[in-house]
Amino acid sequence: MKSKKITVTDILGMKKEGKKITALTAYDYLFGSLLDEAGLDIILVGDSCAMVVQGRETTLPFSMEDAIYHSKAVRRGVKRALLIADMPFLSYQVSDDKAVEHAGVLFKTADVDAVKLEGGQAIAGAIKRIVTAGMPVMGHLGLTPQSIKTFGSYDTRAKEPQEAEQLLQDALSLQDAGAFAVVLEKIPAELAKKVTRALTIPTIGIGAGPFCDGQILVTQDMLGIFDKFRPKFVRRYADLAHEIRNACQKYADEIRNGTFPSSTESFND
Ligand code: KIV
Repeated sequence: MKSKKITVTDILGMKKEGKKITALTAYDYLFGSLLDEAGLDIILVGDSCAMVVQGRETTLPFSMEDAIYHSKAVRRGVKRALLIADMPFLSYQVSDDKAVEHAGVLFKTADVDAVKLEGGQAIAGAIKRIVTAGMPVMGHLGLTPQSIKTFGSYDTRAKEPQEAEQLLQDALSLQDAGAFAVVLEKIPAELAKKVTRALTIPTIGIGAGPFCDGQILVTQDMLGIFDKFRPKFVRRYADLAHEIRNACQKYADEIRNGTFPSSTESFND
């Protein structure tokens, strides 16, 4: 039986009903369809693609062309989950007009269900314009990777009272601007709890403890495919990098020793 497509209204309803929201990232058709079949509520075409897929040092080089290309591919595999695309660095900070235009391109060409923007009060105007134009927005606060050059490190954010209070105010202004949810990345669990209680829209945590309304991880991290480094908040549900290296090594060995292909793997008539 075909299950009902998840909407932004469903995600808001899940907070009211106390149901945890599940989210993972995908960058291509294959992972999009696998995660969709696994029953995830949200699938994010994250700009983490720049680091995980393109081998870049930061998320900053991720372009609108990249976002469109990867969102289109994931869209073809996602039938049920809410599909959200990250808006690339400088696609929404330059002006509110540009933000609406760029968000519109993702909706028109890749048929995404929502977009995600990093930042607080400073981008509330852009969010309001995008939402008013009919496009749902998810916010992102805490360790916002597009600001890595300002932060200088990937350390936990908002540990000091002043930054924690600012984050709470930012979360409230995103909600006022019309965001339907907000990602909280790498902040103390107690602060995430406070923000989650203060908002009527759901919080989706990554390294923000257990009190958020939902959780997101980078799929390649939790599957152990990307094993170059492992943040403390990542739980590994598989060790696929090891499995893939072993399988590929075995394949190469069997070609070299002549056991692949066998006669049953060949066309003999
Ligand atoms: O780019 C990304 O993958 C993200 C999530 C991990 C929240 O922003």
